[in-house]
Amino acid sequence: MKIAILSRNRNLYSTKRLIEAGEAKGHSVKVLDPLRCVMTLSSAEPQIHYRGSKIEGFGAVIPRIGASITFYGTAVLRQFEMMEVYPLNESVAISRSRDKLRSLQLLSRKGIGLPVTGFAHSPDDTEHMLEKCGGAPLILKLLEGTQGKGVVLAETRKAAESVVDAFRGLNANFLVQEFIEEAGGADVRCFVIGDKVVASMQRQAAEGEFRSNLHRGGSASSAKITSSERAAAVRAAKIMGLNVAGVDLIRSNHGPLVLEVNSSPGLEGIEAASGIDVAGKIIDFIEKNAREGRTKTRGKG
Ligand SMILES: Nc1ncnc2c1ncn2[C@@H]1O[C@H](COP(=O)(O)OP(=O)(O)OP(=O)(O)O)[C@@H](O)[C@H]1O
Ligand SMILES: [Mg+2]
Repeated sequence: MKIAILSRNRNLYSTKRLIEAGEAKGHSVKVLDPLRCVMTLSSAEPQIHYRGSKIEGFGAVIPRIGASITFYGTAVLRQFEMMEVYPLNESVAISRSRDKLRSLQLLSRKGIGLPVTGFAHSPDDTEHMLEKCGGAPLILKLLEGTQGKGVVLAETRKAAESVVDAFRGLNANFLVQEFIEEAGGADVRCFVIGDKVVASMQRQAAEGEFRSNLHRGGSASSAKITSSERAAAVRAAKIMGLNVAGVDLIRSNHGPLVLEVNSSPGLEGIEAASGIDVAGKIIDFIEKNAREGRTKTRGKG
């Protein structure tokens, strides 16, 4: 099969591993920079041209679209879907997962365990919202933050109010969340493919830090997960409509709570911590599921 990987950089670990795994299984794998894909639309067939030549003959496309190019990247993926190329994850599901508030609303609607989370627009409602989330200590998160950068622990109500004022002053979108202290600075990444968790790892924050992000000095190790964690991760991915997802869980004293569902989960940390060939399992999934025109939406929505 001819497989396309939508990725800006063929030297990234995840991209390299997917090329390797695809070629090892006898496929032809081509990396396409989504920002160099030219789309043409008319009442006739939708087309993509790449560096001057027409894209055709692909059986599947693996989107590895960074958060900073979500808009153009998902449009390119949608164009592939319109051309009946099987997408590993659908454009609609990726767009959905990039909106943190919308994602939490979808998960909450289906009864997935979440930390109590609040949003409020008006400064007049700050106090009330902080109370509704259980009062201090509280976590405040910038919606566009990644790698733990926009995540703050406010230990007192005064601190929480000041951070809220500061975020508002910067016109930033943020959420407020109950602090899960008993997690002890750890969270669990479950790598979901289809209806299985194929690998998992625990990330532990550095001493004196509550954020477990590897970029914040956290360390990863292989994790044994419980059956309720496994079920929560698989359901969360399914609700988001993702075939492949990195589901982050935090262990609370009332069971696993979902922090986030990532639609382009990295392979480096998880393959190193678990020793599992996750890239190979992604290619296996594509071999089993790719069919021409097999998308739920065919670019709709
Ligand atoms: N409600 C919470 N209670 C306790 N710890 C939390 C909570 N929310 C987040 N954390 C810790 O902070 C870390 C970073 O939070 P989160 O994953 O939400 O943001 P991020 O990593 O910056 O964003 P993204 O995962 O979207 O890149 C988590 O991995 C977890 O260790
Ligand atoms: Mg995170």
